[in-house]
Amino acid sequence: MQTHNLIDGAWVGASDGATLRVTNPARDEVIAEVASVGAAETRSAIDAAWRARESWAAKTAGERGGLLSALAGLMRRDTDRLAALMTAEQGKPLAEARGEIAYAASFLSWAAEEGKRLTGDIIPASAPDKRILVLRQPVGVTGIITPWNFPAAMITRKLGPALAAGCTVVIKPAELTPLSALAIGELACEAGIPDGVVNIVTGDAATIGDALFDDDRVRKLSFTGSTRVGQLLMSKASEHLLRLSLELGGHAPFLVFDDADVGKAVAAAVACKFRNAGQTCICANRFYVQDGVYDEFVAGFTEAVSKLTVGDGAHEGVDIGPLINDAAVEKVESHVEDARSHGATVPVGGDRVHPKGLANRFYAPTLVEGMTPDMKLASEETFGPVAPVARFTAEREAIELANASEYGLAAYYFTRDASRLMRVAEALEYGIVGANDGGPSTAQAPFGGVKHSGFGREGGKYAMDEYTEIKYVSWQL
Ligand code: SIN
Repeated sequence: MQTHNLIDGAWVGASDGATLRVTNPARDEVIAEVASVGAAETRSAIDAAWRARESWAAKTAGERGGLLSALAGLMRRDTDRLAALMTAEQGKPLAEARGEIAYAASFLSWAAEEGKRLTGDIIPASAPDKRILVLRQPVGVTGIITPWNFPAAMITRKLGPALAAGCTVVIKPAELTPLSALAIGELACEAGIPDGVVNIVTGDAATIGDALFDDDRVRKLSFTGSTRVGQLLMSKASEHLLRLSLELGGHAPFLVFDDADVGKAVAAAVACKFRNAGQTCICANRFYVQDGVYDEFVAGFTEAVSKLTVGDGAHEGVDIGPLINDAAVEKVESHVEDARSHGATVPVGGDRVHPKGLANRFYAPTLVEGMTPDMKLASEETFGPVAPVARFTAEREAIELANASEYGLAAYYFTRDASRLMRVAEALEYGIVGANDGGPSTAQAPFGGVKHSGFGREGGKYAMDEYTEIKYVSWQL
């Protein structure tokens, strides 16, 4: 297991020997101590990325793509090892961790090809002796700051297009889940990605973040995390006019209309809500069900939720692992208690569960009926395995409820009416809309939000825009 940082192709510890502990959330056991570096080491990583940028950008798209494909292949080869590491540090069930490794590798494979299609333009000029050329060039050294909930895929979703576009990177993974990032770094070395192109630093977020912001050689920062931190980063970025992509929080509504296929809606609701124990930015967070199918949907959902198994994600067959830390469980508890105090009922779950020999960090998959707009569940991101449900009567009412949020990342709805399908897709103020689909994430599609969910798009051809600058060459013959 790699615990040092990757700087200029070498694995190094903190200059003062400082470390941070990585804990298995299911067992509350320390599983590793990784380097906890500061501003000086972060500057060394930026130095390395800066030195490597010209030769990396000078490679052909095919050469860069070949190296990205090699890294994707190594991740696929090592799926079981990487998945076990991810489950140990993050808690998600092994099957989900394996799925995340496949998902993470798919971003590298997609970007490896997309880099070859990064074209400019030649525009008809306004004078006969002039030519207008538009070049797309790499932004340059890029900072990548990633969250703990998807410790591999949130890195590769940024790393793939950044490298494909010709940028070099300094990655700062979440303090809670650095091991997956460092393992990807080892595979990047094995794949033959040149020294300095990928650098990984672990440690205190504010110290490393400040070092990235304070260095004008860093030209772009891509962040996935909370809206609160995104706002702080945006105000820091304004001092340096640093380009940002921000993939922030979400509070996804899930609408079920009277004309929906209710069985399909229930299956999608379970998959979408309880993925990663609800610790997913695009998880459905609030369910609105039309009067005519309300009872059928709630009965099906209740039955499905009561069958979910809770336990150590390292054991095959577990559906719901631990929450990431004590604060996460406390937040979920406070949301459910708040709902109860406002009159909600809880037909399934509603409390911690205590699997034998494990940490006190497991919350039962929970359904809450009678959600009202004054409940925390209706307006705050719960980030846990809780599904609050409310009724609605008319389509317009459902859209108003769905859009009554500061967030705008993902929304879902179920209907078999073709006109409604289009009408609702257009009316939802969200960056990602699942129409009869609870699992829209895929490497070729644009991922990102509006409003307080941030800006910028990851995935597909759209991601390349985030890592390229447009240069206009006005050429007089
Ligand atoms: C996230 O929590 O933002 C990642 C979810 C995904 O990529 O599907």
